[in-house]
Amino acid sequence: MQKTLSIIKPDATERHLVGEILAYLEKNGFTICGLKKIQLTKKQAEGFYAEHQGREYFERLINYMISAPVVVAVLSRENAIRKYRELMGATDPNEAAEGTIRKLYALNKTHNSVHGSDSEETAMQEIAYFFSDDEIVE
Ligand code: PPS
Repeated sequence: MQKTLSIIKPDATERHLVGEILAYLEKNGFTICGLKKIQLTKKQAEGFYAEHQGREYFERLINYMISAPVVVAVLSRENAIRKYRELMGATDPNEAAEGTIRKLYALNKTHNSVHGSDSEETAMQEIAYFFSDDEIVE
């Protein structure tokens, strides 16, 4: 089974939407193989989003991601990366399709509730960024 990394972002953890979002993922065929709640440091957030350094939104994104704890999850299913990105919806909730997590829960383009890996290579890197092998259960 393919794996992907999901982050439930500060706007969602602060609004107590963790359980609802995890249940929605399970309902949509994803298995949760790893799960933890963490408070990102500035260094950790900057490292995670390193490829976006220099973008006009970078500082806003980092400050937002360290503003409250996040929940990181390893999800598995067939075509997990593509399926999770579909279920997550567009970055801007105004452009997200009906039934997507961002359409249901996101507040705006910054406070957009969830993150998902965008390729197989990124998924492997992102999972390893937060989880050791023994924290992932098949
Ligand atoms: S890109 O160019 O396709 O990589 O951009 P995108 O995937 O849409 O966005 C990359 C990450 O930056 C976040 N983002 C923003 N944060 C704050 N403000 C603004 N305006 C903004 N635009 C994009 C976006 O949520 C992506 O973060 P993740 O965690 O991957 O969802």
